[in-house]
Amino acid sequence: TIAFLNGEYLPLSEARISPMDRGFLFGDGIYEVIPTYAGQPVGLSGHLTRLANGLSAIEIENPFDNVQWKAIVLELAGKNADFIESKNIGVYFHVSRGTDAKRHHAYASNISPTVFAFAFEIPPPQPEAKGDVKGFKVALEEDKRWQRCHIKSTSLLGNVMHYQTGVKAGVDETILFNQQGLITEASSCNVFMVKNGIITTPPLNNELLPGITRQIAIEAFKRAQLPVEEDWFSKEALLEADEVWLTSSSKEVAPVIEVGGHIIGEGNAGRMWEKAIKAYHAYKF
Ligand code: PDD
Repeated sequence: TIAFLNGEYLPLSEARISPMDRGFLFGDGIYEVIPTYAGQPVGLSGHLTRLANGLSAIEIENPFDNVQWKAIVLELAGKNADFIESKNIGVYFHVSRGTDAKRHHAYASNISPTVFAFAFEIPPPQPEAKGDVKGFKVALEEDKRWQRCHIKSTSLLGNVMHYQTGVKAGVDETILFNQQGLITEASSCNVFMVKNGIITTPPLNNELLPGITRQIAIEAFKRAQLPVEEDWFSKEALLEADEVWLTSSSKEVAPVIEVGGHIIGEGNAGRMWEKAIKAYHAYKF
């Protein structure tokens, strides 16, 4: 497949960065994942705004404007369409602070960021019938990450360790709760639940990533007149929910059928999920 590195398109297998890159040594960088289907990106402006906010939060100058970023998304989706037959293509962006002469924590102001992007296959859009969709099983554990989870940092060790808890338990993801026992998000997704006909997702703060899929979903639900609220809920409320969903750029809105070994609802995708995924598909582009 074709990748992008510091202004050039090249085969991914030929892309090289220095081991002195602060992205490698410190995880000092910001990333994004943008889904495209048949060349059409979803949530592009939201992804580019979040990228700009993340770079600004860690004082890396944004190397490109939105027109340039958009061109990279479209170029990579186009150039890789021959390699990725399904045309369901995720574009990964990574901006690290760049390569320094020495390893030291303080960053020099004159280093230029490393910009890397590549394309990879993502799952097809979710089916709209509950009989056809994969129901996710997830683990549940206390969120042990840092207090800046709203920044889409490439330092993902906390997320990796939480995700691995799920892998070891033989499930697909791990949902996290904070020290107050309130659900924040999952290791690579946002979380929604449905109780008595009301859809709820945690409000945005420093404990969770402002997911673009989450935002598109909230807007789509409102437009479809599905009742949706941003509010905290406890892990006990999650276990007693009628439905639980995960959202992310690659999963769209995905039903969860088991949390920590506890069956959710009737153990399959729910009726509200069917309405939700229809609303999401109708609005996402
Ligand atoms: N994960 N929360 C976390 C911790 C995430 O890493 C992600 C995305 C999300 C969902 O955000 P969005 O809807 O913008 O994709 C929530 C990406 C896809 C990843 O790390 O691969």
